[in-house]
Amino acid sequence: MTRRSIILLLFWSLLLPGLAQDDASEGCSPDELTRQQETFALYLTLDFAVDAELALANLYRLGALYQSMALDCGYAPNQAEVNVMLERALMFASLDDLIVAQSVGLDVDDILVELDEVYGDPLTGQLLYNGLEPALGGSPLGCAGCHENEAIAPLTAATWTRINDVRLRLPQFAEYTHRQFLVESIVRPMDYITPDYAAVMPEMYGGQLTIQQLADLVAFLDSQDQLLNE
Ligand code: HEC
Repeated sequence: MTRRSIILLLFWSLLLPGLAQDDASEGCSPDELTRQQETFALYLTLDFAVDAELALANLYRLGALYQSMALDCGYAPNQAEVNVMLERALMFASLDDLIVAQSVGLDVDDILVELDEVYGDPLTGQLLYNGLEPALGGSPLGCAGCHENEAIAPLTAATWTRINDVRLRLPQFAEYTHRQFLVESIVRPMDYITPDYAAVMPEMYGGQLTIQQLADLVAFLDSQDQLLNE
């Protein structure tokens, strides 16, 4: 896909919702919108020569951000405004800010509420888990690297069964649901360290996953319901 066609895609993501709504609210003045754009600082990688895949993913992220602005503000910019906005975005967008805005965070209760609204796709979850599809920011997650080796981490196989038949029977998890345990294990791995394992699981996933990606991972892990051989 060429850069030009990607930018055209961005135009559509901007214009369509803008046309559908027209009740502008506070925080939607041109000054405020300009301010919001300028807070996206300097680091968004959009250099197709260096990493085309990452630049493409980042452009989509930017489009999604503008789309939500358009929805919130009923804002339908004209062509000249769109050009200015894109030029600015290409100069000022901060990948860090975009990622924080889109990631699930660390509040398991909040995440569980959001997760109820999202359909998880186990196949995409498998790609994420195996590092074949990047997480937010463009880097792979590396789950399989640890969880395919029983000496390092509990095996991926039988995760569903192990949680239900072993973990949730422990007194401290008496009130937990299956999903609560799973989400907590992923975004707050240090809250409970599985016996016989070291506390090596990274604590960054709450900042690296969208709610959709987390739903996909959960769907994939929930499909791992083999019998336990412990
Ligand atoms: C550096 C190695 C490492 C990576 C990478 C890693 N984990 Fe883990 N994970 C562990 C270890 C070790 C444990 C057991 C100790 C603990 O509870 O933290 C664990 C525990 C878990 C558990 C609980 C399993 C159980 O039987 O109770 C789940 C679920 C899990 N990880 C999912 C993931 C997912 C999803 C990813 C990727 C987003 C991931 N892990 C990445 C090492 C890792």
